[in-house]
Amino acid sequence: MFMEIAGLRKSYTSGTITTEVLKGIGMRLDKGEVGVILGPSGSGKSTLMNILGGIDRGDSGSVIVDGIEVQRLNDDKLTDYRREHIGFVFQFYNLVPNLSVAENIEVVSNISRSSLNIDEVLAAVGLQDKKRRFPRELSGGEQQRVSIARAIVKNPKLLLCDEPTGALDYGTSRSILQLLQEVNAQYGTTVLMITHNTAIADMANKVFKLRSGEIVEELANASPVPAERIEW
Ligand SMILES: Nc1ncnc2c1ncn2[C@@H]1O[C@H](COP(=O)(O)OP(=O)(O)OP(=O)(O)O)[C@@H](O)[C@H]1O
Ligand SMILES: [Mg+2]
Repeated sequence: MFMEIAGLRKSYTSGTITTEVLKGIGMRLDKGEVGVILGPSGSGKSTLMNILGGIDRGDSGSVIVDGIEVQRLNDDKLTDYRREHIGFVFQFYNLVPNLSVAENIEVVSNISRSSLNIDEVLAAVGLQDKKRRFPRELSGGEQQRVSIARAIVKNPKLLLCDEPTGALDYGTSRSILQLLQEVNAQYGTTVLMITHNTAIADMANKVFKLRSGEIVEELANASPVPAERIEW
């Protein structure tokens, strides 16, 4: 099993109030699979993804990614884990505004050992001719392509996408989903994606439904649908 989460719990305390955000999550994903997490706002999706990506820590339970016991890593090792193994794609791209497209991607490739060639990655996301542009000179869909290029340039084992199409229109969303599917197929990257859009679940191998910090349903898709055939 490539990714295995068991009994994962997480609470946040502010003042005297403690909120249990994850209440014993269990999840498994094989190498090269696409997983989708569905769930209402506040159900703990981003919290779960941030722990998986080494941005945050769970209170208890285990998180294993490719044999690494993420919950047991000290801060330095957690940073290494995040840098070497995890690619992140967010709803609002999080690009550095005063760096060009190529520079936004280079920043990441410089800190990673197994990085791919920048031109190859730019070609993969269809932005060869926009290398020298700045984020403000790109459409939302193009900016999301840059953020996907930035996430995959280090050839991550696990690509975590937190509502990657949340800010995009229908057509652009579909092309971004297609791109994620291509990355998955071409590089064998395991992909875990958060979405509010239940139609997107059709392209996943596994679907996890989260409600108030618990997985309430898990579905396996015998034959995931190509992104270009998904409609909503
Ligand atoms: N750093 C934090 N401190 C305190 N509470 C937090 C913190 N991060 C998240 N929470 C709380 O945890 C709960 C789950 O938040 P989370 O961001 O994981 O939800 P989500 O499922 O991603 O929602 P959305 O779909 O709106 O993005 C929310 O009630 C939120 O207020
Ligand atoms: Mg969220």
